[in-house]
Amino acid sequence: MERCCFIFFTFTLLLFYTTSEASHCSIKGLPLVRNISELPQDNYGRGGLSHITVSGSVAHGMKEVEVWLQTFSPGSRTPIHRHSCEEVFVVLKGSGTLYLASSSHKYPGKPLEYFIFSNSTFLIPINDAHQVWNTNEHEDLQMLVIISRPPVKVFIYDDWFMPHTAAKLKFPYYWDEQCQQEPVKDEL
Ligand SMILES: *[C@@H]1O[C@H](CO)[C@@H](O)[C@H](O)[C@H]1NC(C)=O
Ligand SMILES: *[C@@H]1O[C@H](CO)[C@@H](O)[C@H](O)[C@H]1NC(C)=O
Repeated sequence: MERCCFIFFTFTLLLFYTTSEASHCSIKGLPLVRNISELPQDNYGRGGLSHITVSGSVAHGMKEVEVWLQTFSPGSRTPIHRHSCEEVFVVLKGSGTLYLASSSHKYPGKPLEYFIFSNSTFLIPINDAHQVWNTNEHEDLQMLVIISRPPVKVFIYDDWFMPHTAAKLKFPYYWDEQCQQEPVKDEL
């Protein structure tokens, strides 16, 4: 009797899990070990960018972290933006500039500038407005980017003096657009 109920319960759970998984963008059919050179890459309408979602929430069902490989050609850059997830960068190739402002005023204000270089790493404090810019005229800037709590919700600023409240939400972000997610209210 007990054994029968246990089997029934497990079966129901399995059925539920399988159905709910299938309704998301799915990891089915992907090999466990994947060649990064063969993963989809795109500039998502941003000149000079190559973005690859190495492992992510939308395509692969990740819940806690997401990993990107991004390459910026000379002169290209991210928008000025913020997000409430943790973010770690590992610079693999090239060099450039990180611009970082704090979230403690009504607007970001003039950012601090940091030189970033091959084999350097940096993290972005939660909700601090930032911009990464390939300021090296001669080389691509390539970085591995790790974020928490995917999919990312990005607030974009026109300039460093735009109030935080006026920054525009872009969600789902460009590379997450193929799969809609429920928004979570946890922002500034
Ligand atoms: C990974 O993909 C690239 C590009 O298709 C290819 O040149 C390389 O040989 C692949 N690596 C392996 C180990 O299969
Ligand atoms: C990066 O730093 C580590 C630790 O010092 C070192 O082992 C590695 O060779 C460095 N890589 C490059 C590309 O410089």
